[in-house]
Amino acid sequence: MPIDRVFVAGAGLMGHGIAQVHAAIGKQVVLYEPELSRAVAGRERIADNLEQVVAKRRLAAEERDTILDRISATDDPRRVADAGLVVEAIYEDLDVKRGLWREIDGLAPVDAIFASNTSSIAIDDLAAAVGPERRPAFVGMHFFSPVPVMRLIELVRGTATSDETAATIRSLAADLGKHVIVSADRPGFIVNRMLMPFLAEAMRAFEEGVGSAEDIDAGAKIGLNHPMGPLALADFVGLDTLGAIADVMFDEFRERRFAQPPLLRKMLAAGWYGRKSGMGFYDYSGEKPAPNPGL
Ligand code: 3HC
Repeated sequence: MPIDRVFVAGAGLMGHGIAQVHAAIGKQVVLYEPELSRAVAGRERIADNLEQVVAKRRLAAEERDTILDRISATDDPRRVADAGLVVEAIYEDLDVKRGLWREIDGLAPVDAIFASNTSSIAIDDLAAAVGPERRPAFVGMHFFSPVPVMRLIELVRGTATSDETAATIRSLAADLGKHVIVSADRPGFIVNRMLMPFLAEAMRAFEEGVGSAEDIDAGAKIGLNHPMGPLALADFVGLDTLGAIADVMFDEFRERRFAQPPLLRKMLAAGWYGRKSGMGFYDYSGEKPAPNPGL
């Protein structure tokens, strides 16, 4: 069934990008946060993104306005009532996500697809929050940041996910211009299974004094041709998000490579969440990021 209306829960780094790409292909999008100001801020972030594309003369100003007109910000979960697809991109916490899905379960149309953008939590654990009749329509749809730029979607099938649901997500991903990879329902899926030990090892190397943050990042950028070094990438994704992902993965695998490095714990305790808080492995208060003087 084609999807015309999309309800995106969560207007943060991932949610605003997910809303943007759906609106850009003609979907009507409701961007939801329990606090209206956060939903509005997410929509404004989309306006800023689109403004940059207009400035590069790759998008006409009228088209920008049309895309923005398709997105409405709300704090009312009942706006999910006419959605064909719900994408959840809220904080990486099992209980918080389950609470949201339980609420949405009572409000969404019976035939809506429920897709979680979880980075690490097993889809079966989330689908358990909705009624059994909903579970065939419950699926993992994991985007990568920045969503408008990154071409990958991980499709994660839970035990009950139907072929029809998977096919609808594949078709939507094609419309979005994204490449789909299919992952088994194991915490961290395919990409974070590889990425998390890499980021954690970069943090441990930094903590042990193997190299400066800038040299560790330059090592990956220049020596491995990565677009960003691992410490800059950690700040970009959000250290709180990485901490939550590490906890889910360590809980499952019980292996050190997935555990939060001690330095990450300390940084989280200090309120250093990376770019979003202005301080992480780098200090973002100046014109250009500089190494965090407190590390
Ligand atoms: N939104 C929209 N577009 C953006 C953007 C954003 N937030 N940030 C950058 N772009 C666009 C720019 O406009 C530019 O477009 P153009 O080439 O058409 O002009 C293009 O991306 C390149 O940007 P810049 O020239 O400003 O800078 P870079 O060349 O350094 O690229 C980057 C920026 C795309 C972010 C690049 O550094 C990169 O690919 N970094 C790695 C990103 C990555 O690994 N993401 C995955 C994270 S893991 C994840 O999301 C999973 C989760 O579960 C943890």
